[in-house]
Amino acid sequence: MWTTQNPFLQGPYEPLLNEYVIADLHVEGEIPRELNGALYRTGSNQHFRPLDVDHFHWFDGDGMVHAFRLKDGKASYCNRLVETDGLKVERAAGRALYNGISGHSSVPQQALPEGAPPIKSVAGINVISVGGRVMTMHEIDPFYWELDPHTLETRGKFDFGDQPGAMLTAHPHTDYRAGEMLFYSHDNEAQTLDCFATDMQGQVLSRQRIALPFKPWIHDFIFTENFYVFIFGPIRIRPFAPGLIPMGRSALSFDHEATTRVLLVNRQTGQGRWFGTDASFTLGHYLNAHEAADKIIIDASVTRTLRPGFTGHVEDFYPFPLINEPSPFSSPELHRITIDLSTGQVSDSRIGDFNAEFVRPNETIMGTPQRYGYMAGIHAPGPQTRGFNCLIKHDYQTGNSSFQHLSSSYDMIPGEPIFVPKPGAIAEDDGWLMAVWWDPVRNASEMVIHEARDLDGEPVARIKLDHHVPLGFHGNWIADV
Ligand SMILES: [Fe+2]
Repeated sequence: MWTTQNPFLQGPYEPLLNEYVIADLHVEGEIPRELNGALYRTGSNQHFRPLDVDHFHWFDGDGMVHAFRLKDGKASYCNRLVETDGLKVERAAGRALYNGISGHSSVPQQALPEGAPPIKSVAGINVISVGGRVMTMHEIDPFYWELDPHTLETRGKFDFGDQPGAMLTAHPHTDYRAGEMLFYSHDNEAQTLDCFATDMQGQVLSRQRIALPFKPWIHDFIFTENFYVFIFGPIRIRPFAPGLIPMGRSALSFDHEATTRVLLVNRQTGQGRWFGTDASFTLGHYLNAHEAADKIIIDASVTRTLRPGFTGHVEDFYPFPLINEPSPFSSPELHRITIDLSTGQVSDSRIGDFNAEFVRPNETIMGTPQRYGYMAGIHAPGPQTRGFNCLIKHDYQTGNSSFQHLSSSYDMIPGEPIFVPKPGAIAEDDGWLMAVWWDPVRNASEMVIHEARDLDGEPVARIKLDHHVPLGFHGNWIADV
């Protein structure tokens, strides 16, 4: 495509140029007839040649949404770019004009037409449902982009009635017991963090504001019955600071002095409580959290800082190395973090001998103890392994993990697994696990459904495309109503 050694523009990450509508996909196995709805996935899909192809960062590609629609045992598919303000400006110019948020091209941004946004935010992090409406987003905008659920056409902006006013997370979570959707927005120049609760239709019920003593990069949060939980690592972000992105400098930076800090915000009173640690790690994504007597237990994927004194560009190594040098960060790992509310101590320990990211639970139990966690991971890597090579189910009760590699002869690369409970299910793992896998031999992707109770067994269905879906970030199953 574009000549470069940049790993995020080739192989499983190579941007897809075409937008497809495919009525009937080839299926091996049988799609459960109870599954009527769509698996939406999104990721980084750079449309125009970047200003600096060698320093293009995975986080900066244009958002492209892929929908695998299942109905009556059959599967269809479509994919479409999200028509953000920045992409429209570049389409009119016929080329890239903007730098990314996370790259460090050192190429000054091109002259922009009057009225164009000063920086470009893509919309490629997640696809969620807000009261059945399909939304996709970046995390620096104060809004989500609403999509047509069938055609994926970009309909317009959604902002909970003009509520967030600042960078709105791409990782809202739902407390099914309380019947509330929870999320945050943060303003890193004003140094404020706002925690929101809405009803299941997105109507705001409460808003709590906390002052931040620094400018953290926050990508995800988690909740318990009584608290919003935030863990801040040493990475900082300032997308709106003058002189950074327009000059080709990254909005991300690394605070050498920082250790990891924890903030609990009371869901009812908005009161914040801070906890310090001696450790340096960055939270990738949270699996779940719960309260146990005077402790808060948090399960998450974590990247440890191996060399706190390193002086390079954080974005060259996070979340995966862009350049071929020893990384100052570990690969992502599964960790349990425990906060002792009576002593103020925070401890953390690694789980398993595998690497893991894109951790997801059966979301209906979130905020209460989970038995199972599902994730994309690296287990028993071979010399050819690049990126994830399996899905993992971890049993927190027995401590056992099971692994699904899909091929015994070569590495297939899965994305984030999504758990879909069966109708009327009682057992926590009585459901299906869906993930999109890239097959390097075919250079094509497939959506694979497993019984979550039998993750290491044969798939229930393999739904095959003849083209690849670039390895992306997040998505969700949204059932027809
Ligand atoms: Fe994420």
